[in-house]
Amino acid sequence: MYNEISMKFISKRSNIAIIRNVVSAIVLDNNPTITFINELKTIVSEAITNCIVHGYDNQEDKFVDLKVICDNEKVSIEIIDYGKGIADIEQAREPLFSTKCDEERSGLGFTIMEMFSDHLEVESSLDKGTRLYFEKKW
Ligand SMILES: Nc1ncnc2c1ncn2[C@@H]1O[C@H](COP(=O)(O)OP(=O)(O)O)[C@@H](O)[C@H]1O
Ligand SMILES: [Mg+2]
Repeated sequence: MYNEISMKFISKRSNIAIIRNVVSAIVLDNNPTITFINELKTIVSEAITNCIVHGYDNQEDKFVDLKVICDNEKVSIEIIDYGKGIADIEQAREPLFSTKCDEERSGLGFTIMEMFSDHLEVESSLDKGTRLYFEKKW
């Protein structure tokens, strides 16, 4: 079943739980399994956490854009921040690489997102922001 929904939300951490639930609600029409929903929520949480923690250094007054498209094959999600950007995307995507490993970060966010999605793209420009796009087949 086709659907398309876009949202903009501010970069506060309490929005992560809200957006996880909104995304779950959007895909429900396509009768996903519980595992599918849990994996999708995990990807979305990791992606939004990265926007807030890394892109915006935990500033709470910035914006994140999210677009969800469902079709008969898959759900596609685009998440964009307008923060500091990623200097070296290839390195950032390596398992265990983190620029903030002092805190609660494990450097496994991209690895988890790759594991739970069927296709993951990252585009980024320093001081302009980061666009993450992924697809997950039903
Ligand atoms: N939206 C983003 N903006 C800026 N840097 C990012 C963003 N997402 C990821 N990064 C960079 O990529 C690294 C790896 O991300 P990730 O695999 O999620 O690990 P972690 O979040 O635990 O550091 C981060 O430490 C950060 O340097
Ligand atoms: Mg992360």
